[in-house]
Amino acid sequence: MRPKRWLEHKTISCFNMQTIENSSQQQGDLVLIHNVPMLKAIANNWAQVEAFQARPDDIIIATYPKAGTTWVSEIVDMVCNNGDVEKSCQAPIYYRVPYMEFFAPEESDIPGIKYLNSMASPRLIKTHLPVQLLPKSVWENNCKVIYVARNAKDVAVSFFHFYQSVQMLQDVGSWEEFLQKYIAGEVSYGSWYDHVKGWWEKRQEHRILYLFYEDMKEDPAREIRKVMRFLEKDLGEEVQEKIVRHTSFQAMKENPMTNYETISHEVLDQTVSPFMRKGITGDWKNHFTVAQSEVFDADYAQKMEGSELHFRTEI
Ligand code: A3P
Repeated sequence: MRPKRWLEHKTISCFNMQTIENSSQQQGDLVLIHNVPMLKAIANNWAQVEAFQARPDDIIIATYPKAGTTWVSEIVDMVCNNGDVEKSCQAPIYYRVPYMEFFAPEESDIPGIKYLNSMASPRLIKTHLPVQLLPKSVWENNCKVIYVARNAKDVAVSFFHFYQSVQMLQDVGSWEEFLQKYIAGEVSYGSWYDHVKGWWEKRQEHRILYLFYEDMKEDPAREIRKVMRFLEKDLGEEVQEKIVRHTSFQAMKENPMTNYETISHEVLDQTVSPFMRKGITGDWKNHFTVAQSEVFDADYAQKMEGSELHFRTEI
């Protein structure tokens, strides 16, 4: 399944505005769905997303883009497979943990909702949706959710590089231009602030394990144990260590089943920026000027005021 005709499809039907429901305005390549900027390809598919049927034993992995989705997905898959590396290496991560709201042409190699609907249980499901846009069947079925949050500055940097390599995302210009859009929430999936706060609040009423990328960097074994407890898996020291090794940045960067090298360049051009780019905390210091950092921090303080959510921008 190679996405040979992806680009042709992109210009023909994928982005047909006429078919978009619930959307009112357009921002470049993005469409507002209930006030959240979303790729047109997702907006086109929105009715199916809303109608998605979750099952009680689904495990949902939710993140704002670039927060460590692939990393935690590999960890959860390994935990569910009792640390069986061979099993986890049988298919690319986007088959083992399909991206719920994503819509790709049939002939592309990225499965979405249709594939999920045909998948046997138990399913692992990835989503970047802000909490208020999750299909209601997820709450009705009381699915377990693992959310990963990463500090806003490193997400901005990672997202900027990702934007360059993804064909479906419009050119966002310079780093300064991207940063302005990111602060204003005018990027794919909208405001980082609303996303992390919305999911944080939801913990009070639903089974959500809320993890932080920085904690995972600091002590992956400790965070993997949290995942195991949440999923009621007792796998023992040796298996835990195996999972830590298998999901290290270097191992995942070299693993074709996790580094997205199986995706066509027409969709994700990793010559521009590798998906497994740096995998560190604090890379923002190499991108933000002092002035940008000051403006960002002042705005951050306002947007996060009153929230008990605290992020580390270095470890
Ligand atoms: P950088 O661009 O800062 O390197 P997502 O999967 O949500 O798109 O997140 C991608 C980010 O997570 C990238 O960040 C990537 O390098 C990082 N990442 C992926 N696997 C990782 C791992 N095993 N350890 C640390 N970071 C990882």
